[in-house]
Amino acid sequence: MGKMFSGKTAVVTGSGKRSGIGYAVARKLAVEGANVVIADLGLNPDPDLAVKAAGENEMADIARELAQTHDVESLAVNLDVTRADSVARMAETIAARFGKIHILVNNAGASFGVPNAVHTYDETAWMKTIDVNLHGVFRVSRALLPLMIPGGGAIVNTASRAGKVPALFNGAYAVAKAGVIMLTKIMALELAGNGVRVNAVCPGQIATDLEKWRFGLEAQFFGSTIEEREKEMCKTIPLGRIGSPDEVGDLVAFLASDRAAYMTGQAINITGGQLMEL
Ligand code: NAI
Repeated sequence: MGKMFSGKTAVVTGSGKRSGIGYAVARKLAVEGANVVIADLGLNPDPDLAVKAAGENEMADIARELAQTHDVESLAVNLDVTRADSVARMAETIAARFGKIHILVNNAGASFGVPNAVHTYDETAWMKTIDVNLHGVFRVSRALLPLMIPGGGAIVNTASRAGKVPALFNGAYAVAKAGVIMLTKIMALELAGNGVRVNAVCPGQIATDLEKWRFGLEAQFFGSTIEEREKEMCKTIPLGRIGSPDEVGDLVAFLASDRAAYMTGQAINITGGQLMEL
């Protein structure tokens, strides 16, 4: 039997770190035969980022690994989703190399200025958080859709449980992720006639650098340890554990595939049961 994504090309933003969700997604797509563009900060990562950004070497290394291991084409491209010129350059590079794309995973994300209540939040940090997480999805989708629309395809946005349940002292991130969920639905309606499906995933607690950083902040605040915070968190998760990037990768790959051909405009929770909705 052929692989699910043979002959298809996928772009995954925020996929340049082996510890992250983006890399797990890119790998799942490559395993199923997709050519994969690893798009991440690489050059000049934002010095205000609290969580380590992808570096150019790691990105190039990942692209090499995916190409060699899975017999696909893979390309590392520098991308800052907050900069229109960077997004445009990425789109040109992808157009020149692949001509068209079939899958876009908008996964880049970051929080600035936390922990802070809304009334003490630094304005620049607030704007930047919304720029990366929400406007980044708009910018990248807008730039790459001309490469997808002629043949149709699938977009999967990494939203968050925080887009559905208020995340205290991390307000800009939560507002941005709620925006991503609405953007997903609007794009799903607008693009249905073009054969492009648009869905979002809403992860809960997933073991990545971002999650470690968050537990670190909590440990400082409560005067405890990262391990204790993690244990406390697990008590609120019916399945009793933190999730893995691979588990999110499986869901994204499913939504990107023809197995989800009748799904669009959905925001699917992957939270170990921490969030249950009717
Ligand atoms: P991570 O911090 O390991 O990965 C984020 C990636 O985004 C990094 O590779 C970083 O270089 C990239 N990035 C940051 N700013 C960028 C920019 N301006 N332009 C291009 N790339 C940029 O975190 P993780 O956990 O892998 O996060 C992936 C996505 O999943 C994010 O959108 C995050 O908000 C979301 N998420 C993560 C959860 C978790 O528990 N880890 C829970 C819910 C959502």
